[in-house]
Amino acid sequence: MSANILDGKAIAAEVRAEIKAQVTERLEQDQLPPGLAVILVGENPASQVYVRNKKNACKEVGFADFAYDLPASTTQVDLLALIDELNENPEVHGILVQLPLPDHINPETVIERISPAKDVDGFHPYNVGRLATRMPKLAPCTPHGVMTMLAKTGIELRGLNAVVVGASNIVGVPMVLELLNARATVTICHSATKDLPAKVAEADLVVVGVGIPNMVKGDWIKPGAIVIDVGINRLDDGSLCGDVEFESAKARASWITPVPGGVGPMTIATLLQNTLAVAQAS
Ligand code: GUN
Repeated sequence: MSANILDGKAIAAEVRAEIKAQVTERLEQDQLPPGLAVILVGENPASQVYVRNKKNACKEVGFADFAYDLPASTTQVDLLALIDELNENPEVHGILVQLPLPDHINPETVIERISPAKDVDGFHPYNVGRLATRMPKLAPCTPHGVMTMLAKTGIELRGLNAVVVGASNIVGVPMVLELLNARATVTICHSATKDLPAKVAEADLVVVGVGIPNMVKGDWIKPGAIVIDVGINRLDDGSLCGDVEFESAKARASWITPVPGGVGPMTIATLLQNTLAVAQAS
């Protein structure tokens, strides 16, 4: 078997076109464009790329983007003051603080300072709790983007054995909650999991977000499984690869996401969806 490609790039373009149409309608009705504030502290090169992609996506769909590129020396007090100001600004519907933050800033304190109503990353404990109690408001972008990609491809999740590899707050844990809400039977694996290959081999659907190049081997994949690779790793030769060995996994899977062009574009499309949803509700 050779898997079908889950084309996140194309599906994300569809989602962005839907968003752009709704922004045009808002502007025709003299409503504010959706506004997204993107805060970057320091000069992490990967974060700079992600933030640039987010700003470009905002421009493409007609959002107002409020960019704050702050020096690594920014104090936590100053960052919290900026968030307080953005929480009060009616032109700003979404606030995103790019992670990771420099060591002298506590990410939990920062995330909790963002108004849950403007928390378009879905990282505030209020929004995590809403997702965990099946009353989602703003859901984390990467897992929700994966759900959109699967839904738009017509893949039914109810009753599947799903295995999530990686237990981060950004990907693994909210991915589990999303899959549970879709009635999958979910296992979460992490660095203390015993016999990871055996766990992956039981999966009808496997989602991997660990940040280790080619960590999941193709011969672990159950024939016919759906493989979602959240990893984006840059190799020494400058090329990008995922957390799953792509070619050997593709030979066994029924569906697989490529890297790049799989989950990454869906994350950004979902960020735009979340920001639009806040604007439409305000
Ligand atoms: N760092 C890596 N992924 C993300 C994300 O989705 N949002 C934010 N704010 N930071 C990140």
